[in-house]
Amino acid sequence: MKHLISITDLDREDISYILKKAEEFEDVAMGKRKLRILEGKILGNLFFEPSTRTRMSFEVAMKRLGGDVINMTAQEASSVAKGETLADTIRVVSGYCDAIVIRHPLEGAARFAAENSSVPVINAGDGAGQHPTQTLLDLYTIKKECGRLDGITIALMGDLKYSRTIHSLIKALALFEMKIYLISPEALALPEDIIEDVGGEIKKARLEDVISEIDVLYVTRIQKERFPDEEEYRKVSGSYRITAETLKKAKDGMIVMHPLPRVDEIHPSVDATKHARYFQQSFYGVPVRMAILSEVML
Ligand code: NCD
Repeated sequence: MKHLISITDLDREDISYILKKAEEFEDVAMGKRKLRILEGKILGNLFFEPSTRTRMSFEVAMKRLGGDVINMTAQEASSVAKGETLADTIRVVSGYCDAIVIRHPLEGAARFAAENSSVPVINAGDGAGQHPTQTLLDLYTIKKECGRLDGITIALMGDLKYSRTIHSLIKALALFEMKIYLISPEALALPEDIIEDVGGEIKKARLEDVISEIDVLYVTRIQKERFPDEEEYRKVSGSYRITAETLKKAKDGMIVMHPLPRVDEIHPSVDATKHARYFQQSFYGVPVRMAILSEVML
């Protein structure tokens, strides 16, 4: 049984293998080629936190490969509202399907789910912890749009403290020869233990000082729901924002990425620039999740 809980479950070779597989699925993801390799398989989507892209792209990936999906979204409408424990929910749902995708507000919840599941568990975000399938699609985006992973200079900008997309991605970046800049208000800085853990070439910077040097600018929204109180959130709300003007000095091939949803950190004026890749990035979630599902289910 193959769970996918943290990006650190994978090495460089595993990642390259999944990205290569994803590329083979791209035309299926677009509906240009039919493939039914997951016919008869059922995926259980358990989302205890809001989701648009992750849940829907898993569903599309499954259906385009001939499989089916069962969803538990609204907790109010399920037995969770009656006080059922996560362990029991997992024990039951794993009897109904061939793999489970789980998103949960608590760090460690996906690993706990895996311990109680009789089928593979895929982590779709556990609190501020990990979001490995997002990381794989982020790497896929860089590879496709920049042509390589080694030798990339990337700036991670925004809420580096609470963004699980950042906490996952930075661990994978360390497997490749990348130069990493961290750009954030002090209150949203990347936790020191993660910096130490990652090692490699990481520096704090200001966007204006590195904009002409970077190949990738990866922006995240402030993770409002993870703040201990509203007052702390208000202090940093609206503290960073990029516009088409901010990108004037960027290299021609520099790409702007964002896991989405965006709030106000990327002005819509960026959408029409040659740099915007965040919508393309969200499409890449489909072939990448096809690769992951076929790996886990077949
Ligand atoms: C991210 C998440 O849930 O961590 N969303 C996503 O899966 N694309 C990012 C976010 O919510 O800011």
